[in-house]
Amino acid sequence: MNKYSGKQTFKLFTGTVLLAALTALAPVQAQTQKAKPALVQRANQALDLAVKQYKLMAQHLPDSLLPRSTNKDGSLMTSNSHWWCSGFYPGTLLYLYEYKKDASLKTEALKRLALIENEKNNKGTHDLGFMMYCSFGNAYRLFKDPAYKEVLLTSARSLSTRFNPTVGCIKSWDHGAFTFPVIIDNMMNLELLTWASRTSGDGSFAKIAKTHANTTIKNHFRPDYSSYHVIDYDGGTGAVLQKKTHQGAADSSAWSRGQAWGLYGYTMMYRETRDKAYLDQAKHIADFILNNPNLPEDMIPYWDYNAPGIPDVPRDASAGAVAASALLELSRYTTGKDATRYWNAAEKMLTSLSSPAYLAKEGENNDFILMHSVGSFPHKSEVDVPLSYADYYFVEALLRYKQWGK
Ligand code: GLY
Repeated sequence: MNKYSGKQTFKLFTGTVLLAALTALAPVQAQTQKAKPALVQRANQALDLAVKQYKLMAQHLPDSLLPRSTNKDGSLMTSNSHWWCSGFYPGTLLYLYEYKKDASLKTEALKRLALIENEKNNKGTHDLGFMMYCSFGNAYRLFKDPAYKEVLLTSARSLSTRFNPTVGCIKSWDHGAFTFPVIIDNMMNLELLTWASRTSGDGSFAKIAKTHANTTIKNHFRPDYSSYHVIDYDGGTGAVLQKKTHQGAADSSAWSRGQAWGLYGYTMMYRETRDKAYLDQAKHIADFILNNPNLPEDMIPYWDYNAPGIPDVPRDASAGAVAASALLELSRYTTGKDATRYWNAAEKMLTSLSSPAYLAKEGENNDFILMHSVGSFPHKSEVDVPLSYADYYFVEALLRYKQWGK
């Protein structure tokens, strides 16, 4: 059979067309904002502290594990490579290496990358974007090692196997009392796919990412642009079966980290595709967050915007860190008052996170950088603790602030 006949020809054709569309895109016209010298100085202090903490972590962490959080008895909670957060520690080390150029940070990052490489073949989770792009994605960006590229492309192929064209989404979980669950967090995994199309020439990855993002706009959001956590689909017909929460206060509530994942995800998708619908979506989500009457004065959200008992409930520093990083980027794609508002909000979030209220003291906090995040309040799991992804997005946001502020 001719190699390029039938279905394959169509796939190659659409792939080529999509690739051409992706590579022909001019860079997004990015606006610059002013960085406050005092906050740049504070960012440097926080990054220096982060370097010290992660060097201590490298000393204390068992060779075969990754850091996750703090156990109820106060000890370090670790994970193996299967946990959805396994890429954040090497990813943060790489960001810190980029900042400090300290070879020991790179050595430690590469050692932990080796632990998670096999996850590239994991077809049982939607979290491969978090796991592999935050880790190997940064490694490839910094070192351009073709072996990292291959790891990432294999990961993208694995993730793509979870896409169902009838639903128009990547399936999030294979577990739980759902049929075909898709969670808002999944928006974060799409960057691995847009990167894979740009890098490989196979446009089918980007097509999956765009289809997933479009379906999510259609079904995940309420009229006020807050999002449900879980949409359960019928995998055979694509019909929406249920709109639920897993980690939020109620099905109808706005789980804080979910809002931050959506904000970051659509900002990133606008960067990757230039589709204005994604920019509009990101702005609507930002406005929901920033206008929310339950957003505290220091702009670090409670664990859910509708948590019963506000203000006497835990904050979620991870939601603040993800939102801060996303708002810095969103401000670059917007103009005038919007751009200033998003930038200023991110500045306020970073000022709070780099204050003693959230930033750990050297040698404390099980060597993590930030205190006071929440993994899953309803499951009484990881409540008011450090989390590896809070650190990752905080460090990313500090570097973005220094890089993008003029
Ligand atoms: N992606 C899982 C979480 O945000 O907890």
